[in-house]
Amino acid sequence: MATQVTDPLRLLRADRDNARNAGDPWADLCVVASIGPDGEPRSRVLVLRELDDQLALFFNASSPKSEEFTRSDSLSLLIYLHALKVQYRLTAAFCTVDPDVVAESWKLRPSIPRKLDWLYETRPQSSTISSREALLDAIDHIPETTIAPDTACGCILVPNEIDRLNLDQPNGVHDRRLYARTANVWHEAVLIP
Ligand SMILES: Cc1cc2nc3c(=O)[nH]c(=O)nc-3n(C[C@H](O)[C@H](O)[C@H](O)COP(=O)(O)O)c2cc1C
Repeated sequence: MATQVTDPLRLLRADRDNARNAGDPWADLCVVASIGPDGEPRSRVLVLRELDDQLALFFNASSPKSEEFTRSDSLSLLIYLHALKVQYRLTAAFCTVDPDVVAESWKLRPSIPRKLDWLYETRPQSSTISSREALLDAIDHIPETTIAPDTACGCILVPNEIDRLNLDQPNGVHDRRLYARTANVWHEAVLIP
C-alpha cells in the first residue's frame, strides 16, 4: 500500500552528491528522451544542472531537441549513478528558465561552447556542414563575447514521477520504488524490480 514519504528529490540530490564525491563521471549527467518529427524516439546526454533547489537543463533553441521537447507535456530523464549502482527514471513537467538567469550562467561557459552558440544563429545545432575544416573556420570567425544569443535557453524540471532502482542489495534483490506526486505530496510504492 502507498504511504507518504520524504521528498525523493532530496534523495536524488544526496545520491548525486555521494556519486560526485565518489568520482562518478555520470553524477552531473542525464539522458533525455524525445520523440523526433518522424515519431521515432531519440535520446541524448545532457548536463543535469541545479538552479537553487531545482533541476534544470541548458541547451540551444536551434537544436532539434528544443522543438521535440515541446511535443509533449513532460520530459523523460534517465540518470545512472554507477558509483552507487542506482538508476533514476524521472517524468517531469518543465518550464522556461528566466532568460536573465540563462544570460548570467552563459557567461561562465568556455569560449568554444559560447562561440558555437553564436554559430547556431546561422547554422542550427545538429545541421550538416561540408567538412570539419569548414566548421573550425566558421568558429574562428565568431568574435569573443559574453553576451548570450537569444537561442541560449534552459528549462526547469518539475518531476512528478521518480522511479528509483537500487541494485546495491546484499541479497541480490534490487530495491525499486516509485515516487509519485499528487497535490504536492509525494507517495511511495514498492515496485517489482
Ligand atoms: C557529457 C556530455 C554532456 C553534454 N551536455 C549537453 C548539454 O548540457 N546541453 C546540450 O545541449 N548538449 C549537451 N551534450 C550534447 C548532446 O548530447 C547532443 O549531442 C546535442 O545537444 C545535440 O542534440 P540534438 O541533436 O538531439 O538536439 C552533451 C554531451 C555529452 C557527451
